Amino acid sequence: MNVLGIETSCDETAAAVVHRDANGAGEIRSSVVLSQIEEHSAFGGVVPEIAARAHVEALDRIIAAALHDAGLELAEVDAIAATAGPGLIGGLIVGLTSAKALAWAAGKPLFAINHLEGHALTARLTDQLAFPYLLLLVSGGHTQLVAVHGVGHYERLGTTIDDAAGEAFDKTAKLLGLGYPGGPRVEQRARSGNPERFTLPRPLAGRPGADFSFAGLKTAVRLAAEAASPLSKVDVDDLAAGFQKAAVDCLVDRTRNALAMSAGTRFTALVAAGGVAANKAVANALQAIADDHGLPLVLPPLELCGDNAAMIAWAAAERMSLMPSGADRAGDADHPALARWPLDSLKPPQAAA
Ligand code: KG4
Ligand code: ZN
Repeated sequence: MNVLGIETSCDETAAAVVHRDANGAGEIRSSVVLSQIEEHSAFGGVVPEIAARAHVEALDRIIAAALHDAGLELAEVDAIAATAGPGLIGGLIVGLTSAKALAWAAGKPLFAINHLEGHALTARLTDQLAFPYLLLLVSGGHTQLVAVHGVGHYERLGTTIDDAAGEAFDKTAKLLGLGYPGGPRVEQRARSGNPERFTLPRPLAGRPGADFSFAGLKTAVRLAAEAASPLSKVDVDDLAAGFQKAAVDCLVDRTRNALAMSAGTRFTALVAAGGVAANKAVANALQAIADDHGLPLVLPPLELCGDNAAMIAWAAAERMSLMPSGADRAGDADHPALARWPLDSLKPPQAAA
């Protein structure tokens, strides 16, 4: 089956066509991602109103490009999927409404997909990974450890009690005058820095559970930067390195706890997803944990780490493959856009139909 996916939950306008065969193998037939970084960079972060407007302006042409690249007409796809949440409500409404209109006009089933489910199932698109696996989702909006037991069966082991990991990278970058988006720039400057020069906290590390906290770390970086100001290039490098080391240590501590907490579950792999998974220091640290537990580490390719529509189309394809044929084909036609929509509130497709 071929599914057209649409993603507009944050600052990427994306559309993709993904194919899933009867054996569960996936193939990305097209994936178009238009980043709005330029629109938002002057503000040092994503401005929701600007994002929604930019989605409206670009979406039709991005969808047309995805269909064109896949060599398909709209009438030839088997289903249409859009991100329905969680995310910025204006953008979600733009993407979901467009998907509903296309599905209605073309007589196709509509799937309202949870953005986090898209990230959670990407490892099955790229690696045909079997359930269950442990997912560390680290993006600009989310930081979660999730036991992925099946499609629609997600057990959240930990989440952030304040900032997301990517948000902490972005705020640190802003503080150090490195611009937006911050993650890649902090990583680059950290390479030449001394991570031991500044003493920075590892919030929650050593404590029970798998929750995260980054607010105290961010504040500590700010105080250290103020004390060292005016900052030389070396100061910035050392602060970036110190922050990154502390953030990685937190991710490692929590991931190890999550594995210990689910000692009774035979995971097939440790999987990372989200923009922060593109960070080499993060990836290296996760590889060490995976090695210790005798698990493979599955990292999506860079273009699937960040937000994209292929993961949304794929999640719909996975759901569709589990539905009795002909069942409630337009089941999500009335689904609302949801700014908040926790992953562990989802249900497997059979139960949902
Ligand atoms: O998954 P994503 O593209 O968007 C969502 O937030 O859903 O993640 C973007 C986040 C941003 O906060 C960005 O700074 C961070 O991922 N990021 C990185 C790196 N590349 C992107 N953080 C650390 N190191 C990187 N190399
Ligand atoms: Zn995301």
